[in-house]
Amino acid sequence: MTQSIYRLDALRTAFIGLDTTYPLADGRVTRRVYLDSTASTLMFRPAHDALEAYYRHYANTHSRLHFSAKISTDLYHWAHEKVLQFLHADPEEYACFFTGSGATAGMNRMARVFRDFRPDRDTVLVSLMEHHSNDLPHRKHAGRVIHLPLKEHSGQPGCIDLAALEAVLSRERDRINYVAVTGVSNVTGIINPIYDVAELAHRYGALVLVDGAQMVAHLPVWISHPDQPERNLDAFVFSGHKTYVPGSPGVVVCRKDILSAIEPEEVGGGMVERVFVDRYIITSQFPDREEAGTPNIPGAIALATTLDILDRVGMDTLFQEESRLIHYALERFQSLPTVMVYGETDPRICPRAASISFNIYDVDHGLTAAILNDYHNIAVRNECFCAHPYVEEMIRDDIPPDLRREENILSIRAKLKSGMVRASFGLYNTEEDVERLMTALRDISDHIKDYRTLYTVDAEGNYVHRTFRPPLGEIFSLQSLVEAPFV
Ligand SMILES: Cc1ncc(COP(=O)(O)O)c(C=O)c1O
Repeated sequence: MTQSIYRLDALRTAFIGLDTTYPLADGRVTRRVYLDSTASTLMFRPAHDALEAYYRHYANTHSRLHFSAKISTDLYHWAHEKVLQFLHADPEEYACFFTGSGATAGMNRMARVFRDFRPDRDTVLVSLMEHHSNDLPHRKHAGRVIHLPLKEHSGQPGCIDLAALEAVLSRERDRINYVAVTGVSNVTGIINPIYDVAELAHRYGALVLVDGAQMVAHLPVWISHPDQPERNLDAFVFSGHKTYVPGSPGVVVCRKDILSAIEPEEVGGGMVERVFVDRYIITSQFPDREEAGTPNIPGAIALATTLDILDRVGMDTLFQEESRLIHYALERFQSLPTVMVYGETDPRICPRAASISFNIYDVDHGLTAAILNDYHNIAVRNECFCAHPYVEEMIRDDIPPDLRREENILSIRAKLKSGMVRASFGLYNTEEDVERLMTALRDISDHIKDYRTLYTVDAEGNYVHRTFRPPLGEIFSLQSLVEAPFV
């Protein structure tokens, strides 16, 4: 690989799908603007290419007998090491294992691990801004979950309220097992002070589990702090498909002493030393102990390849670059009087990464998202983003003064109640993408009456264009791709 791949400008264009075009409802064919990275990022081409080359040597792991098995085993081992190194986790103290197809499997796993590690403590603290994947597993497995409030800034919620956290930690100290908090909100992109949370939690004897699903692609992570171990994270979970490698697994990094203290959650091949008909001896080796069965070997290798390259560019640099774009977008949003952006928008008060959620006043989020797609080729996501309590908390006093007539308020509230539109950014997004979004939002605000006549709402509540039927089957047909070489 040449050095140039590590240049930021080269990196930003090394993604598959940046030149994807679609025909639109007005007859134009334009480049898609992908603003849905918080759901899943685009594929990093070097990882894809590396994987294609690796498939020539593919074999299962856990063997060093034949050449391919040895290559696979070594690369898979390297993938674990790479994750630990990338996240600054001391390999003596932490183990990394791959699980499921995203962060959700890891969260469920850790909820059970922490429950079994300290069964005498029945309470978990989560913040109000959590994705359901970092809320429901704790509700199911812990017994008692307390939702922590967020700091308020000029009427808008910001990051987790540390004073409130400390108050609960101090009040409930003997019952609290752990604090589970997201590093970055998947709705507002607001960054939480996770290392301060860890320091506080540890002071009161609680453990800390961080949902890193929205962190790893966007900002540096420090699981170990050699000079300040009280700020270490006890466990950390993230998704490979949100880190530029669709098809890669979810990842868990956890303190080895916690994992070693209990029987592994999952049992089967690969995690045992010996099996007799009446008993089995579990290996003490990591990650084998935590990875029963055949793992997603290619996905893990592709993910580690990506982390390796991101590391060489430097996550500090990437974070700075992305922050510049997010600040630019937030500023540009200010120029749209008909648009409400949710969460504290001053980045000096609340730094953000990746996501910005908004609504156009008096326009249903579903309609905005449909028009953005059909007329502007901008891919966004809408509704509640698997964070219902947080989204509902924010859709409150967001009606601008000039629309606050009594007869308006109820109808606007009812419409906004059901959700928001989210634009989310990755390494590949540019100011030009932000400008496309701004132009589109202005167009929707100016022509909403006309647009309304073009859509109907189907039985599931989706906005469907009355006449436009994009020929998606012609644009992409798996059938023709797989048939072509054989007919
Ligand atoms: C903050 C956060 N946590 C957890 C998840 C769940 O991740 P996955 O879908 O990869 O399981 C998501 C997904 O959007 C998320 O944004």
